[in-house]
Amino acid sequence: LKKVSLFDNLNDEQLEHVLRISHRRTLKPGTILFHEKEMGLTFYVVLSGSLKLFTKSNSGEEKVLSLVNAGESFGELSLLDGRPRSASAQTLETTTLLELSSEQFMELMQAHFDITRGILAELCRRLRTTNEHVNDLTFLDGRTRVLKNLISLANKNGKRSGNIISIPMSLNYDELAQMAGVNKAVLSEVIRELESRGVLQFGINEYKLNLLKLRG
Ligand code: CMP
Repeated sequence: LKKVSLFDNLNDEQLEHVLRISHRRTLKPGTILFHEKEMGLTFYVVLSGSLKLFTKSNSGEEKVLSLVNAGESFGELSLLDGRPRSASAQTLETTTLLELSSEQFMELMQAHFDITRGILAELCRRLRTTNEHVNDLTFLDGRTRVLKNLISLANKNGKRSGNIISIPMSLNYDELAQMAGVNKAVLSEVIRELESRGVLQFGINEYKLNLLKLRG
């Protein structure tokens, strides 16, 4: 729990309390935790593993809104405004979650202003990211959006060694394309171009970005 930024300011006794009132659950890769538009009764903290949060268009196309990694939390919106889930959640690998009921979540927010402030800060961060995403969709071309998306995944999930960043690849081609807001043909074209310039190298479970070549 010490790695969960939301609980940064809790002492050991308070962390014990959180553990006592919450529920631990491990899910297999590919498990849908909840669907968009369902009623939400639970708040989740990711202890290990990762998930994607996504919505679907009327014609069934997916849009990945965000990835959630260990130490991060989600599912607060429907508890705070009483409206249905704003997105679906699906595990990308074996994932262990801490679950808090709506009541326990509200109790924690009431008892610890630091937790409330952490939730508000997270909501602010998401609004900023969403604004940036809207700007990107409005003002950037598809190629730049793909590049920007790869770089932001590298910043979030990558491990740097010299000029090379290795990024674990838990998303497939479709999901990468949805995140960048391009179709698969544009994604493939950009990836081919980056690979031919030595900027990007795709492996089975990861991809590598070469920062030196990227700058060029
Ligand atoms: P809730 O609406 O209860 O269920 C889906 C959750 O996904 C939501 O709470 C947020 O925690 C999270 N979520 C929704 N939209 C975004 C977004 N644009 N970026 C990151 N997380 C989001």
